[in-house]
Amino acid sequence: MGVLPSDARSEVVLVSGKQSCGPDAFLMEVELPTPLEPLNPGRFAMLTPVGPSDLTIPRPFSIYGQSDSTHLSFLIQVMGAGTRILSELSIGESLRWTGPLGNGFEVAPSEREVVLLAGGVGSAPFLAYAHAREQAKAQTHFIFGARTEDRLYDRTAFEGGTLKIQLATDDGSCGFHGTVVQALDAELKGDRIGHGALFCACGPPGLLHGFTDFARAEGLEFQLSLETYMGCGIGVCNGCPTKASKSGRFGGWPWAKTCTDGPVFAGEDVDY
Ligand SMILES: Cc1cc2nc3c(=O)[nH]c(=O)nc-3n(C[C@H](O)[C@H](O)[C@H](O)COP(=O)(O)OP(=O)(O)OC[C@H]3O[C@@H](n4cnc5c(N)ncnc54)[C@H](O)[C@@H]3O)c2cc1C
Ligand code: FES
Repeated sequence: MGVLPSDARSEVVLVSGKQSCGPDAFLMEVELPTPLEPLNPGRFAMLTPVGPSDLTIPRPFSIYGQSDSTHLSFLIQVMGAGTRILSELSIGESLRWTGPLGNGFEVAPSEREVVLLAGGVGSAPFLAYAHAREQAKAQTHFIFGARTEDRLYDRTAFEGGTLKIQLATDDGSCGFHGTVVQALDAELKGDRIGHGALFCACGPPGLLHGFTDFARAEGLEFQLSLETYMGCGIGVCNGCPTKASKSGRFGGWPWAKTCTDGPVFAGEDVDY
């Protein structure tokens, strides 16, 4: 079972940048007091304010960007009390981060075709993944969906390189008219993506369940970055169970901890 990563730490950090990127989301950059080695994509951090607030339980967020050893960025959608408090922080104010946590994605070898599938802020683990693949000159697709065009948060950050981007919106306001899974189906049927690719998905539960059913029916190899509720992020509270599959790497153990065993799981390891 997963253990706390050796590079994890809990520190007070400064907000060094902040920018709105949609009707209900923002980008926040933080400055770390202690340098951090380059991270593999898909790891996360627990964030919480340090001032007087009623937020005692930290909230988990994927690490979106790492511009250098002391700056990280997060892409955050405002959902409830915790994300609202974070959205109200200004540049120069402090917060606590505990990270980097979780396993993240191992970037697939450059000869393997990779398809990244994201819904809304599910794009957060994939900016670093896409950059790593571009540096390796590896064939990579990114299917990025949302309810509406303005919720394709910060999509220009993915543009301008060799990444093959397919946008999809539920209302047809931008790109493919339909879901990420329907867009993927069309790409596979059109032979623009091969069934032998590695498929990596992150997003809301509806997307992940729809994708998992589709991937199993099509016999695709896939990985999921899962979002469960989390109390601690470090393996202590048992607040983040994910059902393990009997035939997967957790053997007879029925539950995995999303924080320390994940959040990235191979499709065959979870009963999702
Ligand atoms: C590993 C991991 C990485 C994540 N990365 C990001 C990220 O990069 N950007 C981002 O914006 N969010 C991310 N999330 C989700 C984020 O943690 C939640 O949106 C946040 O904790 C909500 O806190 P809140 O206090 O604002 O909302 P709450 O008051 O706790 O909840 C408000 C509403 O949101 C729903 N909700 C809360 N958490 C989740 C969840 N995890 N999944 C589905 N519904 C939820 C609740 O049911 C409720 O309806 C991630 C979650 C995990 C576990
Ligand atoms: S969040 Fe506490 S054990 Fe996973």
